[in-house]
Amino acid sequence: MTFVGRDIVSIKDLSKEEILHVLDRAEDMVPAARGTEQNTLMQGKIMASLFFEPSTRTRLSFETAMKRLGGGVVGFAQPDATSLKKGETLADTIRTAEQYCDIIAMRHPQEGSARLAAEFAQVPVINGGDGAGHHPTQCLLDLFTIRKEKGSISDNRVALIGDLKYGRTVHSLAYALSLFQADIVFIAPQQLQMPSEVVEECQEMGARISFETQLETVIDDLDVLYVTRIQKERFPDPEEYNKVVGIYKVDLPLLEMAKEDVIVMHPLPRVYEIDSQVDGRPQAAYFRQAFNGVPVRMALISLVLGGIK
Ligand code: NCD
Repeated sequence: MTFVGRDIVSIKDLSKEEILHVLDRAEDMVPAARGTEQNTLMQGKIMASLFFEPSTRTRLSFETAMKRLGGGVVGFAQPDATSLKKGETLADTIRTAEQYCDIIAMRHPQEGSARLAAEFAQVPVINGGDGAGHHPTQCLLDLFTIRKEKGSISDNRVALIGDLKYGRTVHSLAYALSLFQADIVFIAPQQLQMPSEVVEECQEMGARISFETQLETVIDDLDVLYVTRIQKERFPDPEEYNKVVGIYKVDLPLLEMAKEDVIVMHPLPRVYEIDSQVDGRPQAAYFRQAFNGVPVRMALISLVLGGIK
């Protein structure tokens, strides 16, 4: 098993064994991720952080990860301030950025953009989200969170709720949970259900899958409740968004109906989906989940650049 020089565009680029290896190495990174230990594994290395689409956690945790490893970061979060504005293509931006770095972390609104970038770049490309496509590092930190909080990935009944059509985090996570034979419930209004090609792929992998439109029906039987935002920016018609906005809300009365040790996850940002009163409850795992992005990305960067095995 080697990660050196590899692009990480989709979670499908990794086998189950490789995923578990990343999670184990991420566990080793936790003290340095918190800043209680020093780490210089990536000293002298530079990561280009190319964010063509808004981001808070993904970009900050990628950059924190590289800095906690002693490496440097260049990049942009406002593509309008780059030559893109002058009409430069993604391919040329990538071929330029790689002259200045050892690894690229990128996010782009177009599905398939990270794969394209990986074809042009000689340096490894890590996808931080390509449109409604993939989000492999989010998936790894989601799996890391489930394993850490629940003790294992496979022995859980996991509900993915919200915008399963346009949400890239749930596309990656559904696939990965299937790899681990978890029991999965997709909860969404009909028009935002999981795309059939994702469902078929999960079923072919032997996943136990069921579908619901109401959270109340299954809440008492869940180990993990993974809540997502309705992806307003990906709706071709704003009217369609208005029909589903605010459709699900996890609040204290709902949490009362759940198992006591359920965990509530969310890739964040949340808009209406989780009442802020839930934040103080031990079941609210979403900010712990956001932290986990740092050790997981530290492990992945170090593996791909050969700092660890
Ligand atoms: C998600 C994303 O960008 O796909 N956020 C994240 O990366 N943590 C979820 C979202 O935007 O709803």
